[in-house]
Amino acid sequence: MLMCSQVAFAQQADGPALLSDNIDEILKAMTTEEKCALLVGGAGIVPDVPDVAGYTRTIPRLGIPMTVLSDGPAGLRINPTREGTSQTFYCTGFPIGTLIASSWDPAMVEVMTQAMGSEVLEYGVDVLLAPGMNIHRNPLCGRNFEYLSEDPLLSGRIAAAYVRGVQSKGVGCSVKHFAANNQETNRLENDARISERALREIYLKNFEIAIKEGHPWTVMSSYNKLNGEYTQQSHRLLTTILRDDWGFDGLVMTDWGCKDSTVKSAKAGNDLMMPGFQRERDRLMAAVKSGELTQAELDRNVRRVLEYIVKTPHYRKYPYSNQPDLRSHAQVARKAAEESIVLLRNEHSTLPLKGGEKVALYGISSVDFFGVGTGSGFVHTSHVANMQEALTTAGFSLDEDLADYYRHCYALQQDKERMEASSTDKRHRSEPEVSVKAIERQAQANDVAIIVLGRIAGEGADRVVHDDFELTAIERELIQNVSLVYHKAGKRVVVVLNIVGVVETASWKGLVDAIILPWTPGQEGAHAVADIIKGKVNPSGKLPMTFPVNYMDSPSAGNFPYRWDMSGRRGTRRNVDFTEYEEGIWVGYRHFQTHGVEVSYPFGYGLSYTTFNYGQPKVKANQEGFTATITVTNTGSMPGREVVELYVSAPSGGLEKPDRELKAFAKTKTLRPGESETLTMTVTAYELASFNESTAAWETAAGTYKLLFGASATDIRQAVSFKMKKAIGF
Ligand code: BGC
Repeated sequence: MLMCSQVAFAQQADGPALLSDNIDEILKAMTTEEKCALLVGGAGIVPDVPDVAGYTRTIPRLGIPMTVLSDGPAGLRINPTREGTSQTFYCTGFPIGTLIASSWDPAMVEVMTQAMGSEVLEYGVDVLLAPGMNIHRNPLCGRNFEYLSEDPLLSGRIAAAYVRGVQSKGVGCSVKHFAANNQETNRLENDARISERALREIYLKNFEIAIKEGHPWTVMSSYNKLNGEYTQQSHRLLTTILRDDWGFDGLVMTDWGCKDSTVKSAKAGNDLMMPGFQRERDRLMAAVKSGELTQAELDRNVRRVLEYIVKTPHYRKYPYSNQPDLRSHAQVARKAAEESIVLLRNEHSTLPLKGGEKVALYGISSVDFFGVGTGSGFVHTSHVANMQEALTTAGFSLDEDLADYYRHCYALQQDKERMEASSTDKRHRSEPEVSVKAIERQAQANDVAIIVLGRIAGEGADRVVHDDFELTAIERELIQNVSLVYHKAGKRVVVVLNIVGVVETASWKGLVDAIILPWTPGQEGAHAVADIIKGKVNPSGKLPMTFPVNYMDSPSAGNFPYRWDMSGRRGTRRNVDFTEYEEGIWVGYRHFQTHGVEVSYPFGYGLSYTTFNYGQPKVKANQEGFTATITVTNTGSMPGREVVELYVSAPSGGLEKPDRELKAFAKTKTLRPGESETLTMTVTAYELASFNESTAAWETAAGTYKLLFGASATDIRQAVSFKMKKAIGF
């Protein structure tokens, strides 16, 4: 059934109707009330797409339709059922942001988000509130799973690809949360205090890349403050940097809240207030009346909203079907997970298994497998494959008693939750105990043990160290006992980490033979894991962040709310009311690598079932930048793909710089054994620059630049250098 927009409006003939080329005329015809109404959105019931995050208001007399905005980022979040119909409106749960960043493959991400974009379009939504792209500053941020990386280049390139894919379907994206929304604790009020250099090079750089390379229709300003000012009220951020410096020509909307000083937001260049309150309209009206908000400022913002509206499907009266191709999108989601999952450990070539083995599958998360996160990052999928189902489908035979035990424990936990009507703190399910005696029996009866560990998180709360970043006592005991018993029996142990953020691995990884990291891989991700276990898929993902040995090794550890504590006098609470980004630019590998701090798994790390040789690279450089080529050959016995990471070590003498910084990356196609591919990576002089606070300018120092071609930040396979003759300023 094709649906034309019921949201659309009955055109009444008392004004010009909105066209893409008559915005000036429309502005003239609009009353101040109408203008203020258009700058303040709404939320709740939208006639044809119930339960979306929000909408922009309709002005029927001028042919201005309502447009619909909904979350993101792991797929479209709309209500799957509606009153009065038995039809369902499920969406595909795609891999979460951190997993797609682990692909290091913007082209793959673009294909995946084309499928996502067509769900947005076919369900009658105009803007997907995604991608989320705040920097992984600290492993405990509760929304890291929605976000992409600790590195701005990887984050920016993946986000740009995401946007291009979604927007290729004629719907928009809203890149969020701009900017420095790196913690959930007190997210509405927290003041992120960041040096100008760290801001430009780390926390804004990824947005800059996404804006310049992805051209999103919209940007969502964040809840938090940045150096004392709400981001949504910062003229410098939303106008000087975003628009004047980077050339963004779209719409800025607030994150979902209502702050005082609506007028300051409007003046700063925050066009649309979401989800929108009457008092915001009143404030705008009063400010126009008093002259505090000039007519020019008002019209500027309204113009941007109108320019956005004429691009939307609702404006075009797109006849959406409410029937996206969920079946083929499930395959896209699965493929995306296959291309992204990271193999962290594979001793004695434990993986791939031969196929057909008897598997003892441990862990409550083998039944309750997390496909997507919670909060606005949740997606209503028709199902999420779990590891029991996936391994069976892949041809393994499960220890049925054990499988049954976990199903039973899971059902009990669910009953308990229902009875207590509690929304339990679901960071992880409680792990049922398995006695050593039972493990001994299972080790005799099965060929291999697979343990699935899970973690979940969502907006509004950060993760904690105890029993979250660190394993719980029962999880630890399970790993210890299973490893001891299976190893005694000459059998192997594999761990699958179905997690939303970094966990501690250093203390237990040596006990097990293999570790697979699918993160939260979407509704089909468990099948992708099973295919990797079976060797049908050769893993090619690499870490988009560092796994530290201890939480306290993280450069921001002392300046992050690592436990939930909101006590103290409001306004004065360190890491709650304000957070000092004392680590400056030393985020992630920039810190670990430069300061020689041991890590559990470095940035950019990931194993394959095959091996790759990196040939001698070539570089052509001039004052504009350089182009490097390198030939990668599959020297192993399985087809596979390799990510080459190009780090640059800058000459000394200029600003203090990290030992190396990621400046480009490229992924081969699937190379057959013996096959080679030459990868080309281009970096401009501007991309080599650092921000000099004393001159408020970007500088590329003169001197010798070393190009390091790595399989990870610490595994450099080839190096060449080139000379920049003169320093350049931007
Ligand atoms: C979240 C946003 C989301 C919005 C609408 C907010 O609470 O921070 O990411 O897009 O809600 O659901």
